[in-house]
Amino acid sequence: MSFIDEVIGWYNNNKRDLPWRNTNDPYLIWLSEIILQQTRVEQGMPYYHRFAEKYPTISHFAAAGEDQILNLWQGLGYYSRGRNMYKTALMVMEEHGGYFPSQYEKLIKLKGIGEYTAAAVSSFSANEARAVVDGNVFRLLSRYFGIDEVINSPKGKKVFTQLANEVIDTGRPGLSNQAMMEFGSLQCRPANPDCGNCPLRTGCFACNTSSVQNFPVKQKK
Ligand code: ADE
Repeated sequence: MSFIDEVIGWYNNNKRDLPWRNTNDPYLIWLSEIILQQTRVEQGMPYYHRFAEKYPTISHFAAAGEDQILNLWQGLGYYSRGRNMYKTALMVMEEHGGYFPSQYEKLIKLKGIGEYTAAAVSSFSANEARAVVDGNVFRLLSRYFGIDEVINSPKGKKVFTQLANEVIDTGRPGLSNQAMMEFGSLQCRPANPDCGNCPLRTGCFACNTSSVQNFPVKQKK
């Protein structure tokens, strides 16, 4: 089995049932991805539910006003995320007629949406085949393929993004991206990864050279 088939196979048996995985509404997926940017899943979950219940569509969200949004955001920190979300909501109302876009090229122009979020929303909601590269994906790729390029440099970002786009399953890119992130998060953990039970161990560079702790390589700032 190929690398990505193993990862997807593992995902199908081990994934968490997370609410934003049961929708292809780009608005709800955007909401979840912004909340999860600097926040752990367990901490972000109640916020996601509150926002999704109170503002089921981008029209509801935009009609709320910035103060209401920031009020509901309280406790999550990084308030620029909340402010940018509100700016994006107004842009979607004005420029997209209230329909939250699902295409990468449109998403990337919105406030607070970078390459990561645009790739995530477009692949999960519209199955566009662009790899998402977050910390979990950097770790998994660097260990498995033995890549010692530093991850927090422009060159490193380029190398890993290119590789992630080579391994993505273009027939099911949304699933492929979720699987990569979940595998990195639960199986290929930062500390004490469960290599003994890992379906990728026979082909994993880091596992085979007992050097898991050496990957990914980060440049000290
Ligand atoms: N962290 C960021 N995006 C996520 C997602 N879609 N599922 C789980 N954790 C995430």
